[in-house]
Amino acid sequence: MSERPICLADFEQHAKKLLPKSVYDYYRSGADDQQTLAENVAAFSRLKLYPRMLRNVSVLDLSTSILGQEISMPICVAATAMQCMAHADGETATVRACRSMGTGMMLSSWATSSIEEVSQAAPKAICWLQLYIYKDREVTRSLVQRAEKSGYKGIFLTVDTPFLGKRLDDVRNKFQLPPHLRMKNFETNDLAFSSEKGYGENSGLSVYVAEAIDPSINWEDVKWLRGLTSLPVVAKGILRADDAREAVKHGVDGILVSNHGARQLDGVPATIEVLPEIVEAVGGKVEVFLDGGIRKGTDVLKALALGAKAVFIGRPAIWGLVYQGEDGVKQVLQIMKEEFQLAMALCGCQSVKAIDRTLVRRDQWAASKI
Ligand SMILES: Cc1cc2nc3c(=O)[nH]c(=O)nc-3n(C[C@H](O)[C@H](O)[C@H](O)COP(=O)(O)O)c2cc1C
Repeated sequence: MSERPICLADFEQHAKKLLPKSVYDYYRSGADDQQTLAENVAAFSRLKLYPRMLRNVSVLDLSTSILGQEISMPICVAATAMQCMAHADGETATVRACRSMGTGMMLSSWATSSIEEVSQAAPKAICWLQLYIYKDREVTRSLVQRAEKSGYKGIFLTVDTPFLGKRLDDVRNKFQLPPHLRMKNFETNDLAFSSEKGYGENSGLSVYVAEAIDPSINWEDVKWLRGLTSLPVVAKGILRADDAREAVKHGVDGILVSNHGARQLDGVPATIEVLPEIVEAVGGKVEVFLDGGIRKGTDVLKALALGAKAVFIGRPAIWGLVYQGEDGVKQVLQIMKEEFQLAMALCGCQSVKAIDRTLVRRDQWAASKI
């Protein structure tokens, strides 16, 4: 990039120019017509801010905690698979960037760096493992045990992927990992999504999921996972109030309101749209987080105003990786931090605790609801 990136959109423009088409398509795409992909971003624009004035914002405190861990700002990095396609250092660069910014990273089970490599790359980092439940439960059990042993601070169980959403570009491109890469958490070629194993005419990843991931999982499996580990467990991918209540009933410690970056079921609402009803349903019993379409500091503020404890960013971290590896992810997080700080100041909030529901309104919402 000739000019220094100054907002998150700049990083994506650079990545688009630099990455092979099938890799850029894999990272960028949503499912089917990508209605939800656009919605995730558009829904934030429909929310208007109602700032408070004259609140002495000369000193601001952005820090908060998530699942008992102190973080410097309520902005963390979401699990995105196969980051070594974006930069040779992949997930180890991302975790170092997160550690130096004082925030946490969720590692994908489908990472191209192993659970252990990531914890060794940044021993003091706050890492959580994103988990899929495999047909072979021993595979899942071993991932959880390895995360515990490596000092991970929690498990994010993805609940929205019994099958992979249909991402049209991945089908057209017959998406597969390049030959020099594999999913590093697995031994066999089958489980490591290796190009040595053919995947035919489809998106290789959707064939992989159909073969390996268990579509029969249900709430009993959440109980099973709960019994398997003493780490906090978060349900990632909840979009309904009744599911949120069910998750709490089954012992989760947190709920991540997520539509998987619009990559699973197209036509679901933007996550920010459903956040308020989920926060209400949970009633403060567990922490609620949000991801999907967070691209600006004001998006973070809106999510916190509507009840999220923290937010996660997916694609923007990948675009940072493509730009300059560890330093690129750090720049993405730094820009987000500065934008969020400015949004807090201009809204009259000295600390994240001061961010409340009255700061945000949607045109259609009655003032009485706020
Ligand atoms: C390229 C890519 C890979 C992803 N891989 C995973 C994954 O392995 N596991 C998972 O639970 N979610 C995965 N997600 C979803 C993210 O964790 C997160 O929910 C989403 O990216 C947030 O939306 P955003 O990209 O608009 O910030 C992936 C998303 C992207 C874009």
